[in-house]
Amino acid sequence: MIQRPRGTRDFGPEEMEVRRFFEGMMRQEAVLHGFREISTPIFEHTELFTLKSGPGVIEEIYSFKDKGDREICLRPELTASVIRFFVNDLTTLPRPLKMFYFGQCFRYERPQAGRYREFFQFGAEIIGSPTPETDAEAIGLAAAILERTGLKDYRIRIGHIGILRELLAKAGVPGDNALPILQKLDKKSYPEAEELMAQAGMGVIDIAKIIETTKITGPVSVLDSYDGQARDYIRQVCDVLVAMGFSNISVDLGVVRGLAYYTGMVFEVDAPKLGAEKQICGGGSYSLSELFGGEKVFSTGFAIGFDRTLLALQTEGVEFPQPKLTAYVVPVGDTAREKAFQIASELRRAGISADVDIMRRNIGKNLKSADSAKARYALIIGDKELENCSVTLRDLSSGEQQSIAFADLVQKLKD
Ligand code: HAM
Repeated sequence: MIQRPRGTRDFGPEEMEVRRFFEGMMRQEAVLHGFREISTPIFEHTELFTLKSGPGVIEEIYSFKDKGDREICLRPELTASVIRFFVNDLTTLPRPLKMFYFGQCFRYERPQAGRYREFFQFGAEIIGSPTPETDAEAIGLAAAILERTGLKDYRIRIGHIGILRELLAKAGVPGDNALPILQKLDKKSYPEAEELMAQAGMGVIDIAKIIETTKITGPVSVLDSYDGQARDYIRQVCDVLVAMGFSNISVDLGVVRGLAYYTGMVFEVDAPKLGAEKQICGGGSYSLSELFGGEKVFSTGFAIGFDRTLLALQTEGVEFPQPKLTAYVVPVGDTAREKAFQIASELRRAGISADVDIMRRNIGKNLKSADSAKARYALIIGDKELENCSVTLRDLSSGEQQSIAFADLVQKLKD
């Protein structure tokens, strides 16, 4: 037997029903917020991601040479693709552009619960608007989607990378030099971050101040002791979110998101019940278009880890409406077969779900199949029914039966 590759999953019909239900819900919510869906290729030139995240990213992605000797990789996320698409083709569209996407991502990770090599993201990006309300609109969509799924136990933590960058710059570590330190702080690897800060020539007091800052969490008032533009900015973002009715937000200056392209607001959502892989969403404002040959454009966005969100919903026992088959059509004998298909087809054309026997089973086995397909009714058609131009409609939960004329069947089932 051939096994599927490590870190990938197969999804059976029941799982796919759950997945499609929540995927559809997320799409609807994004459309309600004025976002429009886009789609980009699953593979890209590897350069797109090395430009964005540095050559080190090769270790973390599926990259290979194609038959034309081009360096190609499976996308580890979609933000870079969206911005490439924007720079190539969408710069003349009216701004802001509000776009969303859903699709597979691939990362060469060590698989564990909630961490896969192939996983799905539902994400959104707003391009071309530099205001705090733009950031609030992005966080607001993520929050609305999670609220609509019915998930209860999650925390939205909002930070601003500018605060740490300002402090590091004041302490003599400006711009890109700050990146390795921010990456360690993002992973909460404090001893290593301290070592890097010491190597960069920072004094003990400045180092302590940085570490202390990353531990500041709580309501927006925790920012009162800070001055500066970044603080005022997060306050405005939070005020808009509160006006939108989202009160489950907190400030967390430990949200660093150690990627070079984030420039301002950064946020994460955790579902604590998930344990180690509890982050179900991440995002922030960033600047990437200039790296891909375009003008510098302010952007902000997020991606929800679709698989982890479903795991979180499962731990909370959230229910969803299972699609039900309305009718299972059972021909009895050879003469009724074509009529059975005609009826099944009429029902389907009328938008009523119907399955029909294709294995030429006897009535007893067919009724069992109808049961295991969780159909509401079995429609039995034999010689007697053909003669009367009717079907026997059997309610599979009560066992009650009645005769319904062919002509009345669609209306009856619709009712
Ligand atoms: P990210 O934090 O790398 O951000 O990924 C977003 C979400 O994808 C994570 O919060 C997590 O739920 C999920 N995720 C990541 N890796 C895995 C994995 N191996 N298995 C299962 N789920 C995973 C981004 O990708 C950015 N593009 C977000 C963004 C959009 N920033 C601005 N715009």
